[in-house]
Amino acid sequence: MKSAHLADAADQEVEPVFPERLERAVYGLYVTHAVQLACAHGVFDALLPAPAPSTVVAEKLGLDRETLHRILVVLGGAGLLESAVDGWVVPADLRPFVDSGAEDYLGGFVTHLVESTAGRMGEVAGFLERGKPDGTRPFDALYHDEAATERFLQAMWDLSHGVSAELAALSELDTATHLVDVGGASGPFAVAALRAAPSLTATVFDLPAVGPAVARTRERFGLAGRLGFTPGDFFRDRLPEGDRIAFGYILSDWADGTCAELLAAARRACRPGGLVLIMERLFDDDGVGPLATAAMNLSMHVETEGRHRSAAEYVELLTAAGFHGCEVRRGTRDKHLVLGRA
Ligand SMILES: C[S@@+](CC[C@H](N)C(=O)[O-])C[C@H]1O[C@@H](n2cnc3c(N)ncnc32)[C@H](O)[C@@H]1O
Repeated sequence: MKSAHLADAADQEVEPVFPERLERAVYGLYVTHAVQLACAHGVFDALLPAPAPSTVVAEKLGLDRETLHRILVVLGGAGLLESAVDGWVVPADLRPFVDSGAEDYLGGFVTHLVESTAGRMGEVAGFLERGKPDGTRPFDALYHDEAATERFLQAMWDLSHGVSAELAALSELDTATHLVDVGGASGPFAVAALRAAPSLTATVFDLPAVGPAVARTRERFGLAGRLGFTPGDFFRDRLPEGDRIAFGYILSDWADGTCAELLAAARRACRPGGLVLIMERLFDDDGVGPLATAAMNLSMHVETEGRHRSAAEYVELLTAAGFHGCEVRRGTRDKHLVLGRA
């Protein structure tokens, strides 16, 4: 028999503690960590071929049963796994993003968020109270050792490679001969562009620390003779010449005045009739959403000197640098193309 106290409680309407979107915001901290741990320990990969209970996954991967169970329950609560009779199932729409062998895999990006960005978010409180101090240039800190370099370049690859095929398709590469990918990292966009246009060649122009990663990409994709690397500092060195000059997630690292200098350098490097390709997350015209752009804009405040912009702001920068015929070509994901003609 129920006690009077329990009976009263059962008769009352159960109110959620927070409205759902507030609940998701607050507990999102745990979900992000659960996603990162599941990626890093191969948990999603283990569940992709067939559903399995947490005990089986723990045994297979040599993980602690109780801890894995709790992580999987968080993922289940967040709708990122489904619970079936024979165990946990990865929903079909998430599979391309959690499969470590897939082009759209987000593991490197989430690891960067957890291991690097999250630790620095505490700095925002200081900025809020005292303003942002003048700091060192962002990439001096990022490339402080080989392991940090590797982690950052992997995050960039994971963030950019999946979306690059559709951006390459929007870049009029059939009429291009040579692409210069400024700050092209280990080559996520260059690889997609070279795949899309068989007669194209490409040069990644980036800091010297990035050279070995481009060499590995060249080898991995069999691009000897087509994918080159020019080490350099875009604040000091001339950009190589080409008829497509790409800036993927570059201008959002820098303040408007620096972007103006970089686009002026691109104007000098771009052959007549060529295009400059700015590939970025974009703010909606009202400067508020989408959420991913707004979140990364806060990240940019801590990690870089830059910010995210609307398409109109990029067009203004391009026009001021002497490019004409500017167009915005939106992709289906969160990185879009704003182009200008030389
Ligand atoms: C945010 S990442 C973008 C990588 C890639 N373009 C993409 O879309 O994923 C910025 C890139 O700019 C490069 N970079 C930063 N400062 C640079 C400089 N002064 N000269 C050349 N490259 C630089 C970094 O090494 C890094 O590869």
